[in-house]
Amino acid sequence: MTIKRLTLVLALCAAVTASAQKFPGLALTPPMGWNSWNTFAANINENLVKETADAMIANGMRDAGYTYIVVDDCWETMERDARGNLVPDPKKFPSGMKALGDYLHAKGFKFGIHSCAGTKTCGGYPGGRGHEFQDALAYASWGIDFLKYDWCEHGTADARETYKTMRDAIHAAGRPMIFSLCEWGQNKPWEWAGDVGHMWRTTGDIYSSYDGRKGWESGWKRNLDLQYTLVESNGPDGIGKYAGPGHWNDPDMLEVGTEGLTFGESRAHFSLWCIVAAPLIAGNDVRHMEPVYRDMLTNKDVLAIDQDALGKQGFRALADPGKNIEIWVRELSNGEWAVCALNTSSAAADLTVEWSRLWTIQGKFSVHDVWANKAAGDTGKSLTARVDSHDVVLFRLTPTKS
Ligand code: GLA
Repeated sequence: MTIKRLTLVLALCAAVTASAQKFPGLALTPPMGWNSWNTFAANINENLVKETADAMIANGMRDAGYTYIVVDDCWETMERDARGNLVPDPKKFPSGMKALGDYLHAKGFKFGIHSCAGTKTCGGYPGGRGHEFQDALAYASWGIDFLKYDWCEHGTADARETYKTMRDAIHAAGRPMIFSLCEWGQNKPWEWAGDVGHMWRTTGDIYSSYDGRKGWESGWKRNLDLQYTLVESNGPDGIGKYAGPGHWNDPDMLEVGTEGLTFGESRAHFSLWCIVAAPLIAGNDVRHMEPVYRDMLTNKDVLAIDQDALGKQGFRALADPGKNIEIWVRELSNGEWAVCALNTSSAAADLTVEWSRLWTIQGKFSVHDVWANKAAGDTGKSLTARVDSHDVVLFRLTPTKS
């Protein structure tokens, strides 16, 4: 680091004490975008990222709101340079990160990158510990708009203090960035990260499965169950209450359209992520996506549930294993509700939604079947629908004037 740069870093450190805060006004609805990890892991390069961006323009994802393109782990060289700077791998990113950021910005995207609060990333690349202010300046100079910050190799570090340091470094560097904490829910970030980051992981890693378990990785239903707030007689409970505009629980990225899920399982995963106001970060290869998954990811009426301005996280309102059904609900703006019935059995089943059992939803509503895009009566009468295994029916309820 040159003397000039060192002076700048020290000045920024001093400024931080006066203005420690995260960037306000970001992520007022759950962030949407794409991330390289779920499908590509370490096999990333600048052409893949550019092709992904181009595909997301062609297939309508950008215009549907998926604007953050995030390069996950393994983009760097194994060592910092002599001045302690992170160096993009010259084989994978020969044009450098600034050029990639320019490309993405010119096409109407935001640029995201991954690093780690520990000494090394989970992939074994240099982590940010002890380099927070230096790294934040580099990210700002590359045009980074979103930082995902992991938790491998953290040793005895205190999570809250460590993430606050990076928050302050980003703020001092002066470029607004969504700060995405990837601490896996180990230190209950929902209790303290509201003024540290804009979203925080609540679970270990997702993989392409309904409810499987593979070491550190879980199917989406297991991650979902960790978000839920089951309505018992005394009302909702759980971590949903910590989410809201600017600060979201993150049950991990989407596996929609990846090969371990059936069509119905992808659709249920997507619908329920919208119910729990989750960030929608696609993880599939969007360059080679079947049209049914393109249509799923870009369905405006479903996205409107995720992006509802009220920003209230939904919850599981009813679980009736004997009837193969779970019902998840989310309060929306203007007195509307989203209601999602999941078939938990391993075969197709007739699911009956008895509106009167959903006691948090008071009043009378007309019912719209969102995926089928057709009217489905009103809440005066229970409704039965044939639903495939692990698939859902999703409704939007609008109050009727009476
Ligand atoms: C952790 C994170 C993942 C991904 C990998 C990269 O496991 O939880 O989302 O970023 O690291 O190594």
